[in-house]
This record gives sequence, C-alpha cells and structure tokens, in this order.
Amino acid sequence: MGRSLKYDIPGEDWRVSALDFFETRSAEASLQDSTSAAAVSTEGGSPRSVELLFAQTLDPPLKVVLEIGFGRGEFLLDLAERFPGTGFLGVEVSFKRVLKLARKLARTEFENVRLLEARAENVVRDLLPAESLDEAWINFSDPWPKARHEGRRLIQPVFVSELTTCLKPGGWLHVATDDVPYAEQISEVLDEEGELISDHPSRPWLSEVPGRMHTGYEEEWREAGRPLHFFEYRRRPKAGSESSL
Ligand SMILES: C[S@@+](CC[C@H](N)C(=O)[O-])C[C@H]1O[C@@H](n2cnc3c(N)ncnc32)[C@H](O)[C@@H]1O
Repeated sequence: MGRSLKYDIPGEDWRVSALDFFETRSAEASLQDSTSAAAVSTEGGSPRSVELLFAQTLDPPLKVVLEIGFGRGEFLLDLAERFPGTGFLGVEVSFKRVLKLARKLARTEFENVRLLEARAENVVRDLLPAESLDEAWINFSDPWPKARHEGRRLIQPVFVSELTTCLKPGGWLHVATDDVPYAEQISEVLDEEGELISDHPSRPWLSEVPGRMHTGYEEEWREAGRPLHFFEYRRRPKAGSESSL
C-alpha cells in the first residue's frame, strides 16, 4: 500500500485560487469547481494585476515569473532562492504535486512563491492579464508520444499565442523537452508565433544552456543519455521595455 497523503500545511500556505486573480470575490468571477483543476470560468470582470498575488510579502514594482507544470518543484524553489525579490507563480495541474510542494514550501523561509492548481491553458486564457509576466518556463511538459495523443501536448499555436500575450514586451519564454518529435513541433509552433523572436535564430534549439539549473525530470533524462532540447524566445520588445531577471 502506498504512503497516505498528508494534507496539513506545516506553516504558511502559499497556494492561491483562481478567485485571487480578481478584484472581487463575488459573482464577477466564478470558479466552476474550486477544488479541482478541471475548469476555470470567468464571467465578466477582468483579472487584476498579477503582482497583487505577492503584495502580502513583496514590494511592487515586481518581476513576475511563471513556471508551468513544476512537477516536484525543485526548479521553482531554486529560482525562488536565487531571486528573493521576484515573484514566482507555479501552475500545476496535479492536486498531489501542488499539495506536496505547498507542504515543502511551508517549511522554508521563502515568501516569493505562489502555487496554483490549474490547467495552464485555462490560466493563460482566463487569469493572467496581458503583459503581466517577465518570464515563463515550461520544462519537460508531457510529450504524449503516441500519434493519436499529439493533440494533448501543451505547446500548440493557440496556447503559445495566449501565453505570449501574457508576457511583457521583451519577456522571456523558456521551453525544454527531451522528446525529438515534440521538439520539432515546439520549434515550428514557436517560430510561427509572430510576436516571438528566437535567441538562437540559426538553430531550431540548443542542446545545452550554460548556467541553467536542472529540473527533477531532466536529471533522469540526463542519466539515461536522452537528447535535450532547449528553446529560448522573447516577446518582441517595445522601445524601453526590456525585461530580464
Ligand atoms: C514530465 S513532468 C515535468 C515536471 C517538471 N517540469 C520537471 O521538469 O521536472 C510534466 C508536469 O506537467 C504537469 N502538467 C501536465 N499538463 C499540465 C497542464 N495542462 N497544466 C499544468 N501542468 C500540467 C504534470 O502534472 C507534470 O507535473
């Protein structure tokens, strides 16, 4: 029998809900199912500044970084430790992974991380205001290797277009995968998004990015000798609106 899941949070609970993205908690925003990531619906009302998620502990003006599908959360916590003045929003579809990271986070001193249990597609479509993110990371999202499951892959044109809208001009989009067919799809989708420009225009992807931290899954892929593919893109900058950590 597997170990039972512990639900108590041994300290501050840094999880947020879809309603925290809206000014009022009334009918302006409705969460169809507040306990699962199944669906987020917003009727009327537009999302407030994402910086406000961090207002309790960090001073604006703030840089805000999104990690999608943080898994066991090692990468997110590494970033949070290295950049204590930056707000990190981790979005993960798995209730269990969010709970486990919330428990882990509660035992740390970090006050710059917020966790949201949701599907990333819903978050970029409904919750994040335009031009609200300095960076977004998508590390090793599920490759869905069977041809009939390709449509389930996260990196699709509509999703990338909506995510790009959420980036500030000049904001970074970092993507990584170990799967060759998925890498080819990612390369095509990112190249076709007119608002994005590649930091490595002469190559479809990089096989190493010096100084980049490794994620939990990445450690496993490296040990197994799998080829890695890293994509570094930026939203086209407007004059005077550069962004980096
Ligand atoms: C292969 S794991 C990679 C985890 C981590 N990024 C790493 O590199 O170690 C993919 C993660 O993405 C999450 N995920 C899958 N689909 C998602 C979605 N639509 N929105 C948010 N998270 C998703 C999964 O629950 C899983 O934790």
